[in-house]
Amino acid sequence: MMSKIKKAIFPVAGLGTRFLPATKSIPKEIMTLVDRPLIQYSLDEARAAGIEEFIFVTSRGKGALEDYFDRSPILENHLHKKGKKELLQIVRDTTFDSGTIAYIRQHYPHGLGHAVWCARQLIGDEPFVVILTDDVIISKEPVLSQMINAYESHGGTMVGLSRVPWENVSNYGIVEPESSGDKILRLKGLVEKPKQEKAPSNLAIIGRYILTPRIFEDLAKTPPDANGEIQITEAIAKGTTNSPGVYGYIFEGQRFDCGNKMGFLQAGIALALQRPELRDELQDFLKSLE
Ligand code: G1P
Repeated sequence: MMSKIKKAIFPVAGLGTRFLPATKSIPKEIMTLVDRPLIQYSLDEARAAGIEEFIFVTSRGKGALEDYFDRSPILENHLHKKGKKELLQIVRDTTFDSGTIAYIRQHYPHGLGHAVWCARQLIGDEPFVVILTDDVIISKEPVLSQMINAYESHGGTMVGLSRVPWENVSNYGIVEPESSGDKILRLKGLVEKPKQEKAPSNLAIIGRYILTPRIFEDLAKTPPDANGEIQITEAIAKGTTNSPGVYGYIFEGQRFDCGNKMGFLQAGIALALQRPELRDELQDFLKSLE
């Protein structure tokens, strides 16, 4: 029987330079969409998909992130005394059971692949997921749950995919499908940020991965690219010739790239429009700007 996926790695070591000066003193992952930090969205998605252990790969200056996940007894007491049950629940939902959360530091900015590799001792011998917090996805069924369901019938390694405009392929990991299918594709190649004329497709890897511990061996064999970064895409590509192979999953959902300002702003608006208490007034305001 395939082992259940229980662990998730969140690489959160980046400097967030696209959001300077804000990120001078707050980690990007704590920046807020409506009333919740960016990290909370991927965390909720992971919990909904049955993840029980959470591993954050951090770096210097990310203390606010650790504090965010900590208990906050004074605040909780205050809300309890005032009878603010809903708020109390919201606060409690940000905390973890003891021993289910771990932080590990990436000491050098050697790229996403290196960040994942830093967590190797905490993963052991079981499949796990990697979630990139920048990719916020609004969907009926959380994308990670969609992927884990698909994984349960295929095994192997799986990356989340979405079609992007051809002129944007050089911002993404791009895959070369072996088979055609409407949702799950077996892949024969993956390439990180190809030039448009060299891209094998316009199917882009979006920040959701299901990986097996084999990836740590492949990462160790992956040389740094021209920028000195070890790319997870290149390491995953090494597994395409093995059984049971590498699959892409074209997910359903609207994805926002919160790694840049436009995506972040759009996600904030889209998420606010989903809140019944904000929707009508915000819609009126947006119309008034036209
Ligand atoms: C990373 C990955 C890339 C992927 C992208 C998705 O790139 O390296 O393969 O397509 O995330 O958001 P980054 O956005 O960190 O440059």
